[in-house]
Amino acid sequence: MRAAAFIRTIAIRGATVAALAAAPAVLAGDPPPQYAASCGACHAVGVAGAPATGNAEAWAPRMEKGMEALVASVRNGLNAMPPGGLCNSCSDEDHAALITYMSTAQ
Ligand code: HEC
Repeated sequence: MRAAAFIRTIAIRGATVAALAAAPAVLAGDPPPQYAASCGACHAVGVAGAPATGNAEAWAPRMEKGMEALVASVRNGLNAMPPGGLCNSCSDEDHAALITYMSTAQ
């Protein structure tokens, strides 16, 4: 129940972020447009052991696998992370950009 409400909140935020991304003045360092409605649902707070966004320390051992392996983990899914990470329209490049954003200290 609470999870459903949480996902709904995230989805609404996602729409807001998408609207902001369409505006011309987007600050550097802003999340990629797909972030809030997909990866952010779990990685914003580290749901089910997900490395939290902006926690470079938590991401360090993941980054050692290399970007190609990490993109493959997202594409195929990994344990509690569903295939595509809730962004099925994302390309490998989109996923790589999302990973770079999340693994960088905010
Ligand atoms: C439903 C929750 C959920 C969503 C949505 C989600 N993740 Fe994850 N993610 C996880 C969890 C949980 C892990 C840790 C998996 C493990 O190691 O057991 C994880 C791990 C990862 C890893 C590390 C993989 C590895 O090989 O170590 C990457 C990279 C990643 N997520 C990227 C993304 C991206 C990019 C998105 C959005 C397109 C995304 N995630 C969306 C839950 C999620």
